[in-house]
Parts: sequence; structure tokens; C-alpha cells
Amino acid sequence: MVALARKNSPVPALPAYADEVLASLQAAPKWVAAKFFYDAVGSELFERITELPEYYPTRCEMQILHDHAGDIAKLIPAGAALVEFGSGSSKKARILLAATGALACYVPVDISAEMLEQEAVALRRDMPQLKVLPVAADFCKPFDLPREAENAPARVGFFPGSTIGNFEPHEAATFLHNAARILGKGAVLIIGADLVKPAEILNAAYNDAAGVTARFNLNLLTRLNRELGANFRLETFEHHAFFNRERSRIEMHLASLKRQKVRIAGETIEFRAGETIHTENSYKYSIELLGALARGTGWQPLAAWTDPKNYFSMQAFMLSNSKTADLTP
Ligand code: SAH
Ligand code: AVI
Repeated sequence: MVALARKNSPVPALPAYADEVLASLQAAPKWVAAKFFYDAVGSELFERITELPEYYPTRCEMQILHDHAGDIAKLIPAGAALVEFGSGSSKKARILLAATGALACYVPVDISAEMLEQEAVALRRDMPQLKVLPVAADFCKPFDLPREAENAPARVGFFPGSTIGNFEPHEAATFLHNAARILGKGAVLIIGADLVKPAEILNAAYNDAAGVTARFNLNLLTRLNRELGANFRLETFEHHAFFNRERSRIEMHLASLKRQKVRIAGETIEFRAGETIHTENSYKYSIELLGALARGTGWQPLAAWTDPKNYFSMQAFMLSNSKTADLTP
């Protein structure tokens, strides 16, 4: 998002999200929502993370999709609309799309508008028979599906990557409820979720030797410097990531190496030495726990698949009939 100059004013206007970020930095403890990682550079860095030897989730999920594409595709009725939440590179959807019959359309939804458009162009080139209808939106807020998806006989949601783990559990429940409303009667939802495993494996995945995850985390400050007129000095902040076993989540933080003041969006934020900005949680689920969360929001578990090491899961749900009656907002 580029700051636009106000008419007749040398002071650049701030993007709409400035108040949200400022409020979270003025809170105690300080935090910034993980969705702000994904500017164009952040999206590229995430793609590099997915190729790291330590970052097993993408490889495991791709293996599940390759091994079970036929069974998973059976849950996608012919003529349905496939709606992907947080589509990124769409590389997992490509596996599903190759295994399904003709669809009404594929709707990738992502907050990272440049990446979304770039991947839609590539997908249209590679699958010319497929209608690709990208939607640039924050999937935590209400948004409209394209008419072709609304008119399709059914909609199937696809939420891979364990992005559901970046929500607090109550936010995940809200997301699942909203997904039910957006996808409507007869919907199926296919979710990829990372599983609980030994701390060494988890800690290594978020502290890679090449330092790409650290760059991904610190890029948030570069974005705030550019878009919110902040003056974070990146060399005075450090990437911290660790598994919090009690909360079953990886926490990522940016720790201030010294006592300092930072200007952002016209305000001053003070940091103590060692104080952190909490930038991400990545919750690790069991199949049972995610199933229970989904059931509570009207989604009935249909099937679950894991990779041979049991590191990652793909789970399918169907909107239960009793809940389709109360899909009003
Ligand atoms: N599905 C891909 C990408 C996962 S990374 C995969 O499995 O590899 C998480 C993706 O979700 C990113 O592309 C990011 O831009 C998007 N995202 C994160 N928060 C979002 C939000 N609130 N609304 C829409 N997209 C979001
Ligand atoms: C997108 N999300 C599920 C990733 C995760 O593992 O929580 C983001 C990420 N953060 C650090 N590495 C990858």
C-alpha cells in the first residue's frame, strides 16, 4: 500500500491500517497482527521459507496432497467453485485443480494483492480452461465472492498452509463460522493444519540456519518504516522464535536490543531493553482438537489425512444441515 499525498498538503496520508498497528504497539505487551507480514517482499520471503530444509510444513502438506489428491478431489463436486483462503503462491491448489473435474471457477483470496495478481496470471496461462477470479481481501472481514462463485451449485473452501494456526483459537472459531456463511449450504471445507510434535523440530523450523525467517520477521519493521513513516532501526531488533508448550504454539517476537524510542505514524513508542513486539503465533493442533473446534461452528469432520511422519494434517469438513439454517450474519 502506497501512502498518497493529501490534496494541498505536504503531509502524506497514512494507510487505513495505521490506527490498528498503532493501537497494538501502544498495548502492553506490544504486538502487531501477523497479516501485516505480507507485503510484496514478505510474500516472497514466505515462499523462500517454504523451501528451507528446516521448514517441514509445506513439504509435508504437498506430500499429503500428492498422495491423496484423488480422494480429496472426490469431495469437490463437478461445477463447484473452489475458494482458497490465503492462497499465496497457489501451489497447493494447483495439485487439487489438476485432480478435479471441470469447476465453475477458482477464487484465490489473499491480502497480498501483488502476489495474488501475479499468481492469477500464471495460473490462467497454465490452465486456460479454468476461470481464475482473484479477490484481494482480508479474510477476517466480510467480503463478497465473485458472481460466478455465488451462482455455482456448491462452494468448496480450501485453507491450507496451517494459516488457521496463526489465529487465536477463538478467532479460528470466528473464521470457521464466517467461512460457513461465505460458502453457504452444502459447502465442504478442506483445512491444512500443522500438528503438535517435539519442540526441537518446531524450534528449528522457525529459527532456520540461513536466517530467512528472521528476515521475514524483521521485514515487518521495514514495511512500517516505509508505509507508516516509522524510524525503526533494524539492527536494534532481533528475531526470537520459540515453542510455548503450555499454549501449544510457536511464538515469534522482535526483541529490542536496547532502551529506545521509535516514531511511528506521528506517535512515539518507548521500548525497554529486551522488550518485544509479539508478531506471530503459530498454533499446533491435534486432529481431535481442530475437529472439536470445527464441530462447534457447524462443520462435521468428513476425513483426515496425514503425512507418513504424522507432522501435518489435512482435514475435510462438511457444513452440517442443522447449521445451514442459521447462516445469517
Ligand atoms: N496458502 C499458501 C500461503 C500460506 S502463507 C500456502 O499454503 O503455502 C499465508 C497466506 O495468507 C499469505 O499469502 C498471506 O498473504 C495470506 N494472509 C494472511 N493473513 C490474511 C488475511 N487476514 N486475509 C487474507 N489473506 C491473508
Ligand atoms: C503462514 N503461516 C502458517 C506460517 C507459519 O508457519 O505459521 C508463517 C510463518 N511464520 C514463520 N515461518 C512461517
